[in-house]
Amino acid sequence: MTTDQAGTRTRRTRRTSLPRWRADLRLGTRIAVMRAGGLALALRGDPVARLMHKPWRLDPYPTYAALRAAAAGGVARSRTGINAVATHEACTAVLRDRRFGVRLADGRMPFDPTSDAQRSGAGADGNGTSTASGQDPTDPGTALIEPIDLSLLSLDPPDHTRLRRLAQPTFAPRRLAQYRDTAREVTGRLLDDAAARGSFDLTTDLAAPLPISVIAELLAIPHVDTPRFARWGRALGAALDGVRSVRHAHALSRATADLRALFGDLVERRRADPGEDVISQLVHELDEGTLTLDELVSLAQLLLVAGFETTTNLVGNAVRALQATGTWGDLVADPGLAVGAVEETLRFDPPVQLTARFAHEDVEIGGRTLRRDSGVLVLLASAGRDPAAHRDPDRFDPRREQTTPHLAFSGGAHYCLGAALARMEGEVALEMLAERMPRLRPAGRIVPRVATVLRGPRNFPVRAA
Ligand code: HEM
Repeated sequence: MTTDQAGTRTRRTRRTSLPRWRADLRLGTRIAVMRAGGLALALRGDPVARLMHKPWRLDPYPTYAALRAAAAGGVARSRTGINAVATHEACTAVLRDRRFGVRLADGRMPFDPTSDAQRSGAGADGNGTSTASGQDPTDPGTALIEPIDLSLLSLDPPDHTRLRRLAQPTFAPRRLAQYRDTAREVTGRLLDDAAARGSFDLTTDLAAPLPISVIAELLAIPHVDTPRFARWGRALGAALDGVRSVRHAHALSRATADLRALFGDLVERRRADPGEDVISQLVHELDEGTLTLDELVSLAQLLLVAGFETTTNLVGNAVRALQATGTWGDLVADPGLAVGAVEETLRFDPPVQLTARFAHEDVEIGGRTLRRDSGVLVLLASAGRDPAAHRDPDRFDPRREQTTPHLAFSGGAHYCLGAALARMEGEVALEMLAERMPRLRPAGRIVPRVATVLRGPRNFPVRAA
């Protein structure tokens, strides 16, 4: 049995005590049972269940409309046990309300096996809750999976406030100019390669390698192995929906272990030879005792995960919408329209469709009470299509005057730290694509990601001319 420094029994010990084949079998069975239960509810018309299942998941916008109608400004209930807010007003209210957090009221993680609230399945009126990872560590099968530490995203104040302050200088405006140069140079190179081939995959040949290169610069990772980073990012990004299969669980464990090794190694190198980058700054804080090594590694991992697949989806969703609505020609005529196209994509078809919060006390929203520790899905993408907030919301218009702010980057304490960076990367990609490949057009079926939280094309075949 292994012990941690305090001599207590660690969770890893419990995880490895089951033979792997038995744990795999249990996990596989559990996933299959949960899927079947969810699908049955979806077939009976439950809107929250439909968000998680095909075919409804492929186009969730009619389901969001149903949820907005059902919620009537407040909380929509579902037989899945997961509550949801779907209108712009209710989503904004939950995100800004300090009575909600990303953890339970007593600071424990949702689905912490030692939590009474989770053991009893408590939620609003008996409704259960959900986590970002969707894992239930009380189950011996899922307990085998290393929980994904999402750093800032899974912290409430005061830890969240302290860590966010340390991460903020990475995103200072003067740094953005430097990242823009990298983005332009990388996009130019990727488009040269793509143009030489004629036909290419917009996702894997442009929209994915671009943010990976920018994050590698941000973290000052030399000689980045793009396909490996893409694999890690995919495994972790997909885990936002929960673990899909035993294979996914193993890919996730491998990705987490590899990333921890990579960042652990980077920390040592920066300690020996500090630079201007974010890791060097954080190593300094580590030595000052302002943060722990685990916090540092998790934060670096979050920057990679948060900034990769999200930006990839932004580029893919923007090109898809521009092509589908006949507004690609407008962008070609005026590449400066890239700014409006990025903003409209964030409202119309955002890369991150939803997030979750937990009530830290009983809270009333739109006449309904959410009980302490109950979870609520905040449907960011539904807010962007709310007719009470946006005129003619189902129309994609890159020239739209955005009078009501969209919620694609969330709101309140967890507002996306990389929002300006993501906008810049999206704008560079669209502008340069329109300039260099004005006759760009689809060249086959777009394959969507298998996901609910992250939305975008997994493969997007296009032709340059
Ligand atoms: C289009 C691209 C992006 C979208 C749509 C997006 C969206 C989001 C959303 C919705 C959240 C908050 C989730 C919540 O409230 O629970 C978030 C948080 C965050 N994002 Fe982004 N993001 C994008 C790009 C980036 C980039 C490029 C980076 C950095 C490299 C980044 C770094 C972060 C970080 C560090 C947080 C955590 C903030 C906190 O918890 O205080 N994001 N993002």
